[in-house]
Amino acid sequence: MSQDIQERISELSAELHQHNYQYHVLNEPLITDSEYDRLFAELSELEAEYPAFALPGSPTQRVGSDLARDFAKVRHPASILSLANAFDETDLRNWEERNARILSADSELQYVLQPKLDGLAIVITYENGVLARAATRGNGEVGDDVTANVKTIRSVPLRIPVNPALGAPPARLVVRGEILFHKDAFRELNREQLAQGAPAYINARNTASGSLKQKDSRETAKRKLTAYVYAIVDSDGLNLGSEWESLRFLREMGFNVISGAALCQDMDDAAKRLPAWETKRDDLPFEIDGMVLKVDSLPAARELGVVGKDPRGAIAYKFPAEEATTRLLGLTIGVGRTGRVTPTAQLEPVFIGGVTVSNASLHNYEQVAALDIRLGDRVVVKRSGDVIPYVIGPVIGARCGSETAILPPETCPFCDTTLIQPEGAVDWFCPNPNCSERVMRTLEFFVSRGAMDIEGMGPQTISALIDESLIEDEADIFYLNAEPLLALEGFAEKKVENLLASIERAKSRPFEQVLTSLGIDGVGATVAGLLTDNFSSMQDLLDTARRIRAADLSFAHTVEPLLADLPTEDADSKKLALRLRHPLTELVPRYLDADDLNDRLARLFKPLGLAPDFLHEIAVSLQPLIAASRPLQAIDGLGPVLVENIVAWFTDAHNQKVLAKMQATGVNMRAEEKEVAGSALANLTFVLTGSMSVPRGELKSLVEANGGKVTGSVSKKTSYVVAGDSPGSKVDKAVSNGVPVISEADLRALIASQPIATGG
Ligand code: IVH
Repeated sequence: MSQDIQERISELSAELHQHNYQYHVLNEPLITDSEYDRLFAELSELEAEYPAFALPGSPTQRVGSDLARDFAKVRHPASILSLANAFDETDLRNWEERNARILSADSELQYVLQPKLDGLAIVITYENGVLARAATRGNGEVGDDVTANVKTIRSVPLRIPVNPALGAPPARLVVRGEILFHKDAFRELNREQLAQGAPAYINARNTASGSLKQKDSRETAKRKLTAYVYAIVDSDGLNLGSEWESLRFLREMGFNVISGAALCQDMDDAAKRLPAWETKRDDLPFEIDGMVLKVDSLPAARELGVVGKDPRGAIAYKFPAEEATTRLLGLTIGVGRTGRVTPTAQLEPVFIGGVTVSNASLHNYEQVAALDIRLGDRVVVKRSGDVIPYVIGPVIGARCGSETAILPPETCPFCDTTLIQPEGAVDWFCPNPNCSERVMRTLEFFVSRGAMDIEGMGPQTISALIDESLIEDEADIFYLNAEPLLALEGFAEKKVENLLASIERAKSRPFEQVLTSLGIDGVGATVAGLLTDNFSSMQDLLDTARRIRAADLSFAHTVEPLLADLPTEDADSKKLALRLRHPLTELVPRYLDADDLNDRLARLFKPLGLAPDFLHEIAVSLQPLIAASRPLQAIDGLGPVLVENIVAWFTDAHNQKVLAKMQATGVNMRAEEKEVAGSALANLTFVLTGSMSVPRGELKSLVEANGGKVTGSVSKKTSYVVAGDSPGSKVDKAVSNGVPVISEADLRALIASQPIATGG
């Protein structure tokens, strides 16, 4: 027994030493922080129970250090302490009890609860209100001087109080905070990295640390770092009694203090607030790895003192880890209803936040290549909230050399068709509409709730129907009859009857539900609703799509000779060629309301030095494409890519065949007649902008019910722009186009047929 414990202690010590080295010296951690914490906690507990076995120089005896050679050193005015960890409520209660035993007075303690930011600690000194120095935590006593770099971070005040009217600053103030990347800034940084062909950063905290430790502060300035301040380390000329007061003071001085901190009346109060934070965690703009709980009273905290490197008056309540490392064993390749190919990682099962994860998303092959993820790699996996677990990236330092590259398959694993990667897309697609897997996914989606909602048609039934050649596509479902169904295994009379009844009911689903069920890429319930508002029938949509495709083809024909001659090396021409090849997404949205199309095209294509005649020709063939696209492009909420998807779907021969078959069996293909309340707005076109007293959609229905039209963009044809609170640039556009701008009240008056008093 004691032999085992001794062995475990020496094993843990050795492992932790190695991980310390990887993290602090090589800057290449092999495990996540929480995995480190777990090992560390296990060792601390064993050593506490069996002090005789603790090794000299145990990792628990040392304060970590992030000191780097290139920076001047700064001695902190007080030790920059760390925090002990609590992993559950029991740990918190024990902490409270221990403290109560130490404190002399039998005092009721209050606690300040605030998020524990997952960044790197920073210590900033202000002398007479001016930022004098900023240092990293270093080894807790001495840190790296990163003043010039910290000054580039905009959330760090260079002078306090930021509002001079608030009086004089303390003679000296040393604050402590955390530097980090907001989630969106980190994503943006990685987008830029990938765009430049550079590998993505895996870990936001390490990247923040690297960004702060640049030798040239201009490099730091390029990174969008954020700083939050949460404590006062030391001061001259300040006398505060509690943490809560300190936070208020810091906020007053103009520091970026994290919002949501709470003053808790007692431990019960604090404990009951924890679950809500855990839920909210994913919605916060930054990563947090737990909550910090501090004894509010500063005298009490002082009396509690310090144990090792941790103050007794504060503790970190750690959330269950969201990240873990494990081995990437293999891949499964999925094909969706649109043909999109998705690689899924098969992992050595790993326990993350209470669940065993053995599959995780790899997003797409582009991402796999950008992150250089290889088969056999040790990978970091994240599982948070409702998001499907995904692979963040490989642990490069853990490679042994036998890992193998992951490449997209050349052919569809289900139907063997050669895969394609559309220009500009990150995904690979199976282009075969009859691919068994695509058909299966299409049908599954078609019958699902929110789509056609056909009860009794689960995946097994669908697959049996396909196997028996009873259905090939969505429309075939409506041609099913009892006889062949009764022949299927497990299909008794009642079951068949129910199935046929629910198929019959599905025929009269509302038009927008029918549209949703088609599974057009990007067209969910919301977009289907927008389409239903603007198109009265499937035929209407089909006609529009066909007109757009025809105009698109004729535009392609016009620019073809130009594209053939364009130099391919220079970046400008490449960009312009891309625009000409994809007019629907690249040109039409830009020029939807342009009445000086010729001039604007001339400006755009100036680098190509085109002859005026040719420019004119381009304009002439773009015009009909713009006109044909308007019914779709002008819908607020439909981006150009969606428009392209919709056009592609409706002009596809297979899809047209399916629609025709569905229509022939009486599936609803028409929008409901809109309710008509009056015609006060007949022949008037409105653009709504800004927030109104009711949702904009509701106001739109009101306009339409009274005979008016609502469009998404302002043109000379717009009758009125209705501006709510904080309207956008549409108001400026209205003014420059001479379109009257009215209020919501004016609109309602107009409906009541009262004259509008437009003040000017
Ligand atoms: S208070 C004396 N508050 O977490 C106690 N620390 O694991 C000072 N941290 O080294 C720490 N958010 O760098 C405090 N709201 C917060 C924090 C926070 C993040 C960091 C801090 C500390 C580490 C301990």
